Amino acid sequence: MKTHLVCCILSAVAVVTACGNQNGKQAAGNGMPVFLDDSKTMDERVEDALSRMTLEEKVTVLHAQSKFSSAGVPRLGLPEVWMSDGPHGIRPEVLWDKWEQAGWTSDSCTAFPALTALSATWNPEMSRLYGKSIGEEARYRKKDVLLGPGVNINRTPLNGRSFEYFGEDPYLTSRMVVPYVQGVQGNGVAACVKHFALNNQETNRFTTDVNVDDRTLYEIYLPAFKAAVQEGGAWAIMGSYNLYKGQWNCHNQYLLNDILKKEWGFDGVVVSDWGGTHDTKEAVENGLDMEFGTWTDGLKSMASNSYDSYYLANPYLEGLKSGKYDMQTLDDKVRRVLRLMYRTNMDKNRPYGSFASPEHAAAARKIGDEAIVLLKNEGVLPIKDAKKILVVGENAIKMMTVGGGSSSLKVKKEYSPLEGIKERFKDADVEYERGYIGDVGGEYNGVSTGQDLSESRFAEQLLKDAVTAAKNAEYVIFIGGLNKSDHQDAEGADRLSYSLPYSQDTVIEALASVAPKLVVVNISGNAVAMPWADMVPAIIQDWYLGSEAGHSLADVLSGDVNPSGKLPFTIGATLDDYPIKTAEQYPGVPGEEKRLGTNMATIMNETYSEGIFVGYRWFDKEKITPVFPFGHGLSYTTFEIGEPSMVGSAERGITFKVSVKNTGSVAGAETVELYISDAECSVERPEKELKGFAKVFLEPGETKVAEITIDKSALSFFDAGKHAWVAEKGDFQALFGTSSRDICRTVKFTY
Ligand code: BGC
Repeated sequence: MKTHLVCCILSAVAVVTACGNQNGKQAAGNGMPVFLDDSKTMDERVEDALSRMTLEEKVTVLHAQSKFSSAGVPRLGLPEVWMSDGPHGIRPEVLWDKWEQAGWTSDSCTAFPALTALSATWNPEMSRLYGKSIGEEARYRKKDVLLGPGVNINRTPLNGRSFEYFGEDPYLTSRMVVPYVQGVQGNGVAACVKHFALNNQETNRFTTDVNVDDRTLYEIYLPAFKAAVQEGGAWAIMGSYNLYKGQWNCHNQYLLNDILKKEWGFDGVVVSDWGGTHDTKEAVENGLDMEFGTWTDGLKSMASNSYDSYYLANPYLEGLKSGKYDMQTLDDKVRRVLRLMYRTNMDKNRPYGSFASPEHAAAARKIGDEAIVLLKNEGVLPIKDAKKILVVGENAIKMMTVGGGSSSLKVKKEYSPLEGIKERFKDADVEYERGYIGDVGGEYNGVSTGQDLSESRFAEQLLKDAVTAAKNAEYVIFIGGLNKSDHQDAEGADRLSYSLPYSQDTVIEALASVAPKLVVVNISGNAVAMPWADMVPAIIQDWYLGSEAGHSLADVLSGDVNPSGKLPFTIGATLDDYPIKTAEQYPGVPGEEKRLGTNMATIMNETYSEGIFVGYRWFDKEKITPVFPFGHGLSYTTFEIGEPSMVGSAERGITFKVSVKNTGSVAGAETVELYISDAECSVERPEKELKGFAKVFLEPGETKVAEITIDKSALSFFDAGKHAWVAEKGDFQALFGTSSRDICRTVKFTY
């Protein structure tokens, strides 16, 4: 198909003549054909373009022509579509059809904080800034589609890709994804929301068939996708690798046709995940619009001319010619791709974007500053007038923007925690000890950190040296956690344990016994076991913060920034605290054999028998005390939450007004979290569910009133029998607090 197109390249002027002649089309009044005339509506242009396309041209826009692009129709002036990962920065350029680096020297981007960190800001304005900034980077790099954000729910803390998602709660995720999508798309770049749906683990990601009841699907796993589509107006969505009801999700009748396109009215494109397409008939009929990353038919695997053998390439074309597939379905797909073009690369007015700019670094730092969560602080932080600081731990020096899978980046600059600390505390004597050896690698997909993390000392010596140094230090800052190597926070395989790897617990406990001012900084995108939580005076949940990681951490350690992040997930004591208990729940049990490409694969059947009780919903139900609850995060100041007032009615919407006063001596921000509780209901409901929040920034002594409005949807559950959201009449409670376990005000109301 590519060959055909190359022969047909014509100028836009020639297009008018050629099309007029070939298809008998009239030009619009101003002499321009309708499809090129941007004074016409998008629908008019789409229909006109569609009517001029040959069968071959229609098929050619439905599948990849390279690793990250699909062909346009040069004869008509319809452009190629270029995509890029996502979701934390713009991936470095790879070769046309190989994963190797293209070797550009101009593709070193800004790495923004990982999405878990963004979620921890609990600030939709940070999401908007993030979306706008990353959209500008995508646009500058001439990408039409950004492969992100990811909105899958943290069902288990073992999921290797949790760091690319927004945490465990569908409401928080929904509120945060909408401005991200809008921010990206304001640049004329489509956000491709992924991975739709039920892609909540990496282990067996290609073969897991999820069995989940409808109520759980609609209440927990779909809301963020729905919000991204209906409120964010997402122009693209990516199918996931796994299966649901026996069908792979990149061509899944239930998810793509019935729910996404029919129920939600999605008019954008469904893009396959890379290699997620397995069958032409299913791809044609079950909702896929653009196929990417398929390893072809196995005959020409990874070869340069293999794109013609994609499921939605020649096999589809042949089926159309023989009458096996209908033209309406084809036209529907092509219309969606044309809409994508008109929204992105056919939009002459889209801004030009910018790349690796000081503004983007500042945005990354601001988001990082708001994301860091102060979990515990017994008078140690912020660090003021320190004379001697010892920093311990590999994550203080290890570059984290390289690794983790498809979100791996090549950055212009990454400030490590140690660099940030040294820069900020330049008047102090800052020393470093490794403490443990984790992952000394620093390479992903041909991008290398250039760091030499090799270490000749053995574990015992490293521990001894760290403890000796700690005895002489005033402050000890341990910086560890997970990293982005295999079986940590990384794509392709889940974590093998809930505990910190590399015997870090031993190091932390040894430091705690000699250092009264010990600060433990955990860098991860997932909850980890913290058996030493009671032994250390200060704990910070840090994240993969990207380019400005070190600056943001130093901002918070020093008190230049007052921490205001809140956990987007629950930290339990052990894995047993979480709802996943059996092999049927995770990682699934072997089921039928199914064709996967040219091979047969054993499908793993997995049942979400915990239902809607995920995250804090489970901890509440089972009355398990978490180590740190969902929504928790401290500040260097103190706040007082006033008695809420309420106006309106559940029928028409209720607005709660609640005053927040900064009762301490430094400026800071508090997030008021609103949970709704429905004590009596015909179905079992979670003890409470997040349905609103507001982040309030306050000077010392200042009071502001936070307003949170809810409507009937906040009271509703999904009634699977009726296939509808239902709010039952009766008494409800609005619970206001500063975490899911720190509820300080309750308002009763009746619906
Ligand atoms: C990932 C996607 C990513 C794609 C392209 C896949 O392996 O699951 O999230 O966008 O690769 O790199």
